[in-house]
Amino acid sequence: MFLKKIMAALSVLAVSTMVLAGCGGQSGSSGSGDKMVLRYAENQVADYPTTKGAQKFAELVKEKTNGRITVEVYDSGQLGDEKSVIEQIQFGGIDMSRVSLTPLSEFSKDLMALQMPYLYRDADHMWKVLDGDIGKKLLGSTEKDGIVGLSWYDAGARNFYNSKHEIKSMADMKGLKIRVQESGLMMDMVKALGASPTPMAYGEVYSGLQTGVIDGAENNWPSYESTSHYEVAKYYVVDEHSRIPEMQIISKQTWDKLSPDDQKILRECAAESAKYERQLWAEQEKASEQKVRDGGAVITKLSAEAREEFVKAMQPLYEKYGADYKELIDQIRAVK
Ligand code: GCU
Repeated sequence: MFLKKIMAALSVLAVSTMVLAGCGGQSGSSGSGDKMVLRYAENQVADYPTTKGAQKFAELVKEKTNGRITVEVYDSGQLGDEKSVIEQIQFGGIDMSRVSLTPLSEFSKDLMALQMPYLYRDADHMWKVLDGDIGKKLLGSTEKDGIVGLSWYDAGARNFYNSKHEIKSMADMKGLKIRVQESGLMMDMVKALGASPTPMAYGEVYSGLQTGVIDGAENNWPSYESTSHYEVAKYYVVDEHSRIPEMQIISKQTWDKLSPDDQKILRECAAESAKYERQLWAEQEKASEQKVRDGGAVITKLSAEAREEFVKAMQPLYEKYGADYKELIDQIRAVK
């Protein structure tokens, strides 16, 4: 743990030094001719849809700026966990990333509404919201917090999994130690279901499961598969309690150094890479489900009655976390 922190600190130092070296001698704006290197942090592995989206983004930027702007993608959490990456983006130590809305909304509260449990009817509903006026407005909502939103990425629906037993009803959740993303909403969500939440960085979950520090966690199919969590926590219940979109972001400090033309190019490339990621996502969800089934995971589909229990249990969260966004939540629900 301690060693990990030192390594993370060293990597920040190294990156900051590289940024200084890369941008040294620049006047602070990217007029044509100025070379620029942007460091992009991604916490998923190299062949994961969001990482391939990042690579596509890098290729497009290179092509459209004739090699003037280089995007270097650091995958597998090399630049640190999501929370520390967002902090570094705020002060300009890292230029770009793709992050889950759960940690991001700890820095930019307006995003809270988009990740409430059982908010969307299905994936189509979520995409109508994100592609429409609400999505456009919220993509611009983080700028005051030093973070510019460029595009929305897909992360499917999240489900619970654990190493102890099948979850067929809420009673089966009782007492399980479940890892959650570092957020009050997610802790309360697990408590509302009768389980006990442990906030933890994504990269530490595998060893947490293996050593029994936690009994389970919750995530989408591709994350459950690519992290090999299914090998140490084989009971996966398809309860689809949340759909948490993800955002491609760039530090406001970096953004302000770009010329309006380059900002436009980056926005276009981000939108194109997001389209590509969404396509890959749909394919990966199926492939990952097949892989975990073949690997011995026990998949349980929640019955309609049990699902109703889950939905009901989470309603108090709407009072605690949704009260400030009631109008927005109503608008999201009304999107057809
Ligand atoms: C998903 C998401 C990651 C996030 C992770 C988590 O895998 O894509 O960005 O870190 O969930 O549960 O922490």
